Amino acid sequence: MSKLLIKKPLEQLLREAHSDNPGGLVRTLGPYNLISLGIGAVIGAGIFVITGSAAAQYAGPAITLSFLLAGLGCAFAGLCYAEFAAMIPISGSAYTYGYATLGEIFAWIIGWDLVLEYAFSAATVASGWSGTIVSLLQDFGVRLPPQLIETPGAELVLFQGRWELLSTVLPQISAAGINAASLPHATGLFNVPAFLSVAIVTVILVLGVKESARFNTIAVFIKVLTVLIFIVIASAYLWRHPNVLTTNWQTFIPENKGAFGQFGWSGVARGASVIFFAYIGFDAVSTAAQEARNPQRDMPIGLLGSLLICTILFIAVACVLTGTVHYSQLNVAAPVAMAIDVTGAKWGSLLVKCGTLAGLSTVMLVTLMGQSRIFYAMSQDGLLPGWASKIHPRFRTPWISSIVIGIFVAIFSGLFPISLLGQLVSIGTLLAFVIVCIGVWALRLKRPDIPRPFKTPWFPFVPAMGILMSLLLMVSLPLDTWLRLFVWLLIGFLIYFNYGLRHSRLQNGTSNADHLSNSGTNV
Ligand code: ALA
Repeated sequence: MSKLLIKKPLEQLLREAHSDNPGGLVRTLGPYNLISLGIGAVIGAGIFVITGSAAAQYAGPAITLSFLLAGLGCAFAGLCYAEFAAMIPISGSAYTYGYATLGEIFAWIIGWDLVLEYAFSAATVASGWSGTIVSLLQDFGVRLPPQLIETPGAELVLFQGRWELLSTVLPQISAAGINAASLPHATGLFNVPAFLSVAIVTVILVLGVKESARFNTIAVFIKVLTVLIFIVIASAYLWRHPNVLTTNWQTFIPENKGAFGQFGWSGVARGASVIFFAYIGFDAVSTAAQEARNPQRDMPIGLLGSLLICTILFIAVACVLTGTVHYSQLNVAAPVAMAIDVTGAKWGSLLVKCGTLAGLSTVMLVTLMGQSRIFYAMSQDGLLPGWASKIHPRFRTPWISSIVIGIFVAIFSGLFPISLLGQLVSIGTLLAFVIVCIGVWALRLKRPDIPRPFKTPWFPFVPAMGILMSLLLMVSLPLDTWLRLFVWLLIGFLIYFNYGLRHSRLQNGTSNADHLSNSGTNV
């Protein structure tokens, strides 16, 4: 048992973090790049898609309170991440913090669990990217073969000249008095646009961290601009039509319908656990710690700055969205595009779709980047094979790991629908939050002597609240999501006992420094 709980000495980690590693990752990212990475990973399917359905099904206009609640939970966890990331600026993020504080088996569990957050959220978002590009192309009259735009078994129907998912447009078809069976049908085989989107992002990631950061900065600019334009246009519309706002917000917290989570205050809580997905990704900033020029100062700025900006934008979007369109009508595939149409801005829906595409691209970019960096750290420790930390001699990126992850995620997104993955991503992320908050608490008690460039305020209130709120959000997720999490962790344990435990450098008494000197570019 003591073997499983072996901890990586902090002094060793600090040496690794501060040593210049020839042939390893390069320190090119400044504070703006890091904030932009955080926003890049965060603003995506959550705000552009899920907000509408969560308002319609659980919270009504009070979805704004759900955003506040989920944002608060993330702030507690974010402060703990900031303390760790500034203290141990290593690319492994929560995995590394777990290795230093709780022991190898916990580190492995977190590393394996983070695959749910990073790789699976990239796959989820790729499905959303595909839906948006297909819709945009159809706006211009381009119809791709329906079998190649959806996952296997998905039923599509040709309605009003567009191929749509039958389940999404069935209410409209029925409302129009049409028999759905009389329309042309098709069944999905493989989601090609989702596959291609991951493939393109993977190529950018392999080409270099500077190139990736540049692409990210441009796409983040487009998506933030889109969100701001939406907020301004919808606010101006509501200013001119105050009666619309008063009608739509007449009942800000709709009365509970008898079951937990169906409106009322329990609906606000359920809404928070669903839209938590929108916040996922800000912690990816910590995986860039080894590529930051001044991680001690800039990690907290990147983590907390991006979280603050996104929280403000989310609450503003939720306010104007539910103010412009009655919440009962928001359960549609593109609620933000629908709301901007209502304001009368003719080009609005085109703009929102372009912004969504940009938004989803950066989410994929940053989460896939984070995934390869975590595998890099795990491989350096011997818990994953050496290929996962091979750095390309010219591009200076973990190229094999990026390509392997890219292939896995691309195929996954081509085969599985968005709905299956979203909640699994949330539960995986929340588990990592819990462990990081426990880690900060444990380390403050055990090693108060270590210099901490950033200290979480109000200790131990902040980590305690981070743990509590994350657990609350986890508990409000459905049972089958928990079961999938357990199966995933079980697979992880099998891999650890068959590979990681035997190859662990810490167990075998070889440090990363030995490894560095023996392996050239294989860091
Ligand atoms: N937060 C990311 C999104 O909403 C995962 O797409």
